[in-house]
Amino acid sequence: GKGLAVFTSGGDSQGMNAAVRSVVRMGIYLGCKVYFIREGYQGMVDGGDNIEEANWSSVSSIIHKGGTIIGSARCMDFVQKEGRLKAACNLVTRGITNLVVIGGDGSLTGANLFRQEWSDLLDELLANNRITKDQREKYKYLHIAGLVGSIDNDFCGTDMTIGTDSALHRIIEAIDAIVSTAYSHQRTFIMEVMGRHCGYLALVAALSSEADQVFIPEDPVPYNWVEKLCKRLQQERKSGQRLNIIIVAEGAIDREGKPITAELVKKVVVDNLQQDTRITVLGHVQRGGSPSAFDRILGCRMGAEAVMALMEATPATEPCVVSLDGNQAVRLPLMECVRRTKAVSQAMTDKNWELAVQLRGRS
Ligand code: F6P
Repeated sequence: GKGLAVFTSGGDSQGMNAAVRSVVRMGIYLGCKVYFIREGYQGMVDGGDNIEEANWSSVSSIIHKGGTIIGSARCMDFVQKEGRLKAACNLVTRGITNLVVIGGDGSLTGANLFRQEWSDLLDELLANNRITKDQREKYKYLHIAGLVGSIDNDFCGTDMTIGTDSALHRIIEAIDAIVSTAYSHQRTFIMEVMGRHCGYLALVAALSSEADQVFIPEDPVPYNWVEKLCKRLQQERKSGQRLNIIIVAEGAIDREGKPITAELVKKVVVDNLQQDTRITVLGHVQRGGSPSAFDRILGCRMGAEAVMALMEATPATEPCVVSLDGNQAVRLPLMECVRRTKAVSQAMTDKNWELAVQLRGRS
């Protein structure tokens, strides 16, 4: 059977295990020899025990677990040519020419570059007698399928990344818990949520918890935000509300691009309204815990589709990313999605927020 390997790379997210499980089982079902690569690209470079054959039962009882059982890492060695040569050698000597990479845009970009370089890497390995002529010929094509695992929902091309829904569940639980204590003491709480430069988690959490205010990177606050915020909070209290909840995305900014931090918002509330105010930074709690049903199913569907894409690939097939479009699993050109995702970052840096939001929308 064909050699197929799965690895997780970059920050973990809930639902990655469901995806790993699905890749392994679909691969076996279709007659592949399936491998885990542990610790992301680092394991591919280091080889040895890091690359291990998987079987049907090695992915039993993992669908409900958060994180990734095969480990993840941000790898510096893979950035170096020698690292990639080692990685290619480790794959070829095991007969692996199909890769499923589960990660964010950085990890997917790395995979694409690896594939572009594959032929040159094999030539160099052959020249240095690290692989044989037969191996050079037999494994000359590398096929790649990407899955987007991230709580941030910041990848262009897919409606939801694997992990976002679970992170939202975690955030909502935390807000509900905070509300009861805030109510008792008539306090204002400022909750900082993750998402890097994407405000999706903050926005959806705010909508579903009836927060009074949300700060997100894509909609930087106007110059008179202090006045507007204070007026709103005051109104809420006057109308009998005993608490206020403000959600701040970790990437929130003002129109000059300066960060709007939880500390800053607290200072505004305390100085202007003298409200009893506390900050809660949710941090990595958002990335932990068991995956929601949605993320389990998403991981399963994406994983199976990735394996099918690889098995149908011809030498000319470009790397794809398996995405959710409406309720459909679709295959999109990996590099186009990465390019769009990078264009969003650039638009944000250029303070062109309208363009950023537009680019992030559906394809
Ligand atoms: O990309 C996922 C994420 O959790 C972001 O929301 C956050 O900014 C970042 O990773 C935190 O990174 P680390 O786990 O390296 O602290």
